[in-house]
Amino acid sequence: MKLVFLGPPGAGKGTLAVKITGLLNAPHISTGNIFREAISSASPLGLKVKSIIDAGKLVDDSTTIGLIRERLAREDVKDSYILDGFPRTITQAEALAAFSSVDRVINFDVPDSVVIERLSGRLVCRKCGFNWHKTFNPPGKDGVCGKCGGEIYTREDDKAEAVKKRLDVYREQTAPLIEYYRNKGLLTNIDARPNVDLIVENVKKLLQP
Ligand code: AP5
Ligand code: MG
Repeated sequence: MKLVFLGPPGAGKGTLAVKITGLLNAPHISTGNIFREAISSASPLGLKVKSIIDAGKLVDDSTTIGLIRERLAREDVKDSYILDGFPRTITQAEALAAFSSVDRVINFDVPDSVVIERLSGRLVCRKCGFNWHKTFNPPGKDGVCGKCGGEIYTREDDKAEAVKKRLDVYREQTAPLIEYYRNKGLLTNIDARPNVDLIVENVKKLLQP
């Protein structure tokens, strides 16, 4: 099944995708993770996007579309994938429709207050990329990832000013995709306020044949 995970920053798209990828045998593709890997390896792409991402703005459509077009041309995603964080603009959605047919779009719905609570407490592993949370899912021993032992850090774009910018950008450029996909009959809303396990159960029910 070819899935798009939609929702504001901090809705839990990445956390849920990590849990659901194995259940569906659908590779998890996160544009945010691809950009962060490029930044940590200081590749030309990383150097180009670092200041944009740190400020909470969107990377330009043509760069982002090019990345996804290339990734979706690979054999492992011929029949199934989970796209997390793409598309984020109508231009990206139209480009995606031209090179892949999405089966379903799940919109993870949360109010701004929850977004702020989740992002202000998020801790990320530099090595495996896992998203921990100071309160809701602490990483274990101070400063070290409980999964792989990697170093834990706070994303630059989780600072208050960048979060505010990301929410503005989400409202202006990404939220219109809800209507776009509803009109195509592809959209389902999921309440993303409960705990992760309950949301995973609700997604599983939704995707049962
Ligand atoms: P990206 O990494 O995609 O950021 P985002 O959409 O802002 O989403 P987040 O990763 O912040 O949130 P999430 O929904 O994945 O939540 P998470 O699971 O981590 O993109 C980063 C940047 O890259 C963008 O700002 C942009 O610059 C650029 N970019 C990426 N894609 C692009 C595109 N298509 N076009 C242009 N630019 C692009 O959860 C958050 C926290 O909450 C975690 O700490 C987690 O442990 C906790 N949590 C999650 N679920 C729950 C729950 N149910 N209960 C309690 N805690 C929870
Ligand atoms: Mg994410």
